[in-house]
Amino acid sequence: MSLLVTGGAGFIGSNFVLDWIATTGEAVVNLDALTYAGNLRNLASLQGDARHVFVQGDICDRALIDRLLAEHRPRAIVHFAAESHVDRSIHGPGAFVRTNVEGTFALLEAARAHWSGLGGAEKDAFRFHHVSTDEVYGSLAPEAPAFTETHAYEPNSPYSASKAASDHLVRAWHHTYGLPVVTTNCSNNYGPYHFPEKLIPLMIVNALAGKPLPVYGDGRQIRDWLYVTDHCSAIRAVLERGRLGETYNIGGWNEQANIDIVRLVCALLDELQPDPAGPYQRLITYVTDRPGHDRRYAIDARKIERELGWRPAETFETGIRKTVEWYLAHTDWVREVQSGSYRDWVAQNYAARTPGSA
Ligand code: NAD
Ligand code: DAU
Repeated sequence: MSLLVTGGAGFIGSNFVLDWIATTGEAVVNLDALTYAGNLRNLASLQGDARHVFVQGDICDRALIDRLLAEHRPRAIVHFAAESHVDRSIHGPGAFVRTNVEGTFALLEAARAHWSGLGGAEKDAFRFHHVSTDEVYGSLAPEAPAFTETHAYEPNSPYSASKAASDHLVRAWHHTYGLPVVTTNCSNNYGPYHFPEKLIPLMIVNALAGKPLPVYGDGRQIRDWLYVTDHCSAIRAVLERGRLGETYNIGGWNEQANIDIVRLVCALLDELQPDPAGPYQRLITYVTDRPGHDRRYAIDARKIERELGWRPAETFETGIRKTVEWYLAHTDWVREVQSGSYRDWVAQNYAARTPGSA
């Protein structure tokens, strides 16, 4: 038995592959294009392990997916592969439409052809698990109730619009063709192997390098943070016991304003690796806001708890400390991902943001 995982060299995908093999012992075929966000170093501990088969390739390549499905006959597809960074989607939306919409379409069509040819127990057991985001629901007012699975889709960025489109395709392939799908919409993840273009790892690596900590707008935007291994355990629960055609929201019951997160990261670094030049908070710099910036996300995770008994295991206090410690212990990993293309991206995204005040 095996799973076909897409995007398994990225942040959440690699955590999932490591967690899946450690927890279940079941093999994974890992299809990843190794874009700037994919990193085989994340999977170094699986080198030589026959339960991990890595294939470098594109989810838009229908012939490749057909071949992988025929060769490995996975019992499920877990689909992480995506362009995932909102700021990049503002600078270059085309790649988001291609991978997130066209790629999901290619995968769905390949899955449908494969599943239609199966019989008996193999057909009944097959699953297509689509990994999506809470950003498809848009932005919440300060006192509004958290997103439930029936909240209207109101995506506001090219990234969230492309993910919303992919969610709709997945839903339609179930209703029209009967493809056995489940979709999960998760809040912001953090933890090991998080690429330092995203808030938490960016703040850690910039602080350690003595660089400014760029806080967009007034820094009062709210996200609901979940430690990445809790996302992995939620996906396992939905894959095993989720009802077909259903969507499940996954979140940490942990709403935090960005500026509070940045201050907490600074305080942890002050404790774990003090800077002789002074407290890290001195580096906080308010900069021009992200266009169309969603103000607040919050997940109502009662459905997955009620139906599948899932709750996050990690608290924010334990998770953020583990995360900061992981980055302090993996300076080689950080150095390697900060390649020329990373530096180009930082220049492109931050050069035009003028410093301001909250
Ligand atoms: P990531 O950017 O770290 O990783 C994406 C991976 O997909 C990379 O390894 C990349 O090489 C691969 N990839 C990109 N285009 C590809 C293509 N055309 N073909 C094959 N592989 C391709 O992303 P992430 O943060 O790990 O997110 C994974 C999934 O989870 C995404 O679908 C994202 O929308 C969703 N999600 C992320 C978060 C979060 O907080 N990071 C929260 C909720 C949902
Ligand atoms: O909610 C789930 C989503 O979380 C996922 O679907 C996305 O793939 C993932 O990237 C993440 O999106 P966000 O836009 O919320 O994450 P990001 O880390 O880019 O930003 C978090 C918040 O921090 C957001 O309000 C913007 C702000 N921010 C971000 C950066 C990179 C800053 O203030 N400064 C920064 O330099």
